[in-house]
Amino acid sequence: MSLSHDPETDELSSGCTLLYGQYKIERHLIDGGFGMTYLARDSLDRMVVLKECFPSTICRRINGEVRPRKPSYQEQYQSVIRNFLREALRLARFEHTNIVKVHQVFQENNTAYIAMDYVDGMDLLSMLDLDPGRLTDTLLHKMLSDTLNALGYVHDFGMLHRDISPDNLLLDKDNNLTLIDFGAAREDARRQTRALSAVLSVKDGYSPHEFYYTDGSQDPSSDIYSVGATFYHLITGKAPPDCQKRLAAISSGQPDPCKMLVKGAWSFDRVFLAAIDKALSVSQKERFQCVEHWLDLLASCKVEVTPDPVAPAPVVKRENVTEAQAVATVELAPDLAQVISSLVQDTNSNLEQGQPAITRQHAEEVEDTPPEAPLVDMFGTPIKDLKAWQREQDKACKQDRAGKQDKACKRNVAKKGGTKEATAHGHDAEEPSSGLSRVFRTFSKRRRRAPSMAQT
Ligand SMILES: Nc1ncnc2c1ncn2[C@@H]1O[C@H](COP(=O)(O)OP(=O)(O)OP(=O)(O)O)[C@@H](O)[C@H]1O
Ligand SMILES: [Mg+2]
Repeated sequence: MSLSHDPETDELSSGCTLLYGQYKIERHLIDGGFGMTYLARDSLDRMVVLKECFPSTICRRINGEVRPRKPSYQEQYQSVIRNFLREALRLARFEHTNIVKVHQVFQENNTAYIAMDYVDGMDLLSMLDLDPGRLTDTLLHKMLSDTLNALGYVHDFGMLHRDISPDNLLLDKDNNLTLIDFGAAREDARRQTRALSAVLSVKDGYSPHEFYYTDGSQDPSSDIYSVGATFYHLITGKAPPDCQKRLAAISSGQPDPCKMLVKGAWSFDRVFLAAIDKALSVSQKERFQCVEHWLDLLASCKVEVTPDPVAPAPVVKRENVTEAQAVATVELAPDLAQVISSLVQDTNSNLEQGQPAITRQHAEEVEDTPPEAPLVDMFGTPIKDLKAWQREQDKACKQDRAGKQDKACKRNVAKKGGTKEATAHGHDAEEPSSGLSRVFRTFSKRRRRAPSMAQT
C-alpha cells in the first residue's frame, strides 16, 4: 500500500494503492460495519469497487494495517477475515447478469479485499430518496423478477444471501438490476445455523424472525421474506415493522403491525401486491418456499407496458381517498380473497406465545443442490485446502510486514526516535462495551455513508 490512511476515520485515503499498484483508491464510499467500500481504478484505468474487510468494532487501522483492537480479539478478527474470504471466493464463481462480477480477491494490510465491477447506478434506497418517480409498476415488476432470478441462482448453489435489502440492489441507467453484498451469505441452505453466521447480519425490517436466533431454521423462504420486505419498502416508502415485533404481536393475539399491501390503496396489480404479502408472512411455511413459485405468480400479473406519461405512477397512495374507502373499492378475485384470509388465519393460529413458528426444513426442495465447484485463487489456480491456502496467505503477509517493519526500524534507528513504533503496536483503543455477538447485531445500524455517495 502506498500513501497513508486518514488517521481520524480509519479509511484508506484517495491515491492509496493496493496489490502492487494494481488498484488506486479514488474515494471512500461507505463504512458498513463489517467492511469499507471504496471507488477505485484498476491498472487498465477501469472504475472498480473495492471492498475491504474491516469489522470496525473489533479492529482499527495502524500505519495502514488493520489490527484487532485488543490481542484477545485476534481470533474473532481472523474468523471474520476467513468468512469474508470464503464468501468472496464463492461470489467469484457466480456468473449471472444480475449479480455483481468479482475481478479479484486478495489479502493485504493484514486484511482481505474484493475487487468487483463498478455498477454505474444507484442503490434502491438512494433512488427512493432521490428519484421516486422512476419506480413505475413496470419497473418494479422487472426489478422483482430480476431479483428473484438472481436469488434463485444463489439458492441453486445451496447458498442463502441473507442480506437482501434496497441498499444491496443497484439499478443502472438502463434499468439493469445488480445484486451486491454477499458478506452475510451462507453456504448450504440445509445446514444448521452457526453462531457467527447467525449474527453476521440482522437488518431490522428486512430480516425474518428466524435470522434473530442462533438456532433459527433458515432456508430459501428466509431470503424470500427479505425480498418481500424490500419491495414493500419500495411501494410504501417504509420498511415493514421488525419481524420480531410482528411475531410478538401476533403471538399475543394483537393485530399484525404490518398492514397487508393488498388491503391498501396502492395502484398496483392486486396479484402482485398479494404475492408480496405472502412473501412477508411471519410464518415460514406460509411464504413461497422457492423463488420459482413467486416467479410463476409474477408472470400472471398485469403490468402497464406503457407507463402513463402524465402520471407515471410513482409509488404513492391515491390522493383524496381514505384507506377505508379505498379498501372498499378494491376488487379482489374471490379465490384470491379467500387465500389471503386463510393465510392470515393460519398465521395467527399457528403461532404460539413467545415462540417462533419455526417450520421443518423442506429437505426435498434442496436435495438436488449441485455439487460445489472448486475454489480458485485470484490467478484461477484451484484451492484444494482453504485453511492451508489461508495459512500461506498469512505467512506471505507476515513476511511482507516483517520486511516493512525492518525498514521502519532502520528508519527509526536512523532518526534515533522510535516512539511511533511503540504507539503503532499499542492496544490502547477503547473496548467495545458488549459481547461480540451483540456488537455484530448492531453493525447494520452503524453505517456511515460518504456525503456524495448517492451521486456515484
Ligand atoms: N459494485 C458496486 N458498484 C457500485 N456501487 C457499489 C458497488 N458495491 C457497493 N456499492 C455501493 O456501496 C454500498 C455499500 O456496499 P455493500 O452493500 O457491498 O457494503 P456494506 O453494506 O457496507 O457491507 P457490509 O454490510 O458487509 O459491511 C452499496 O449500498 C452501494 O451503494
Ligand atoms: Mg450493503
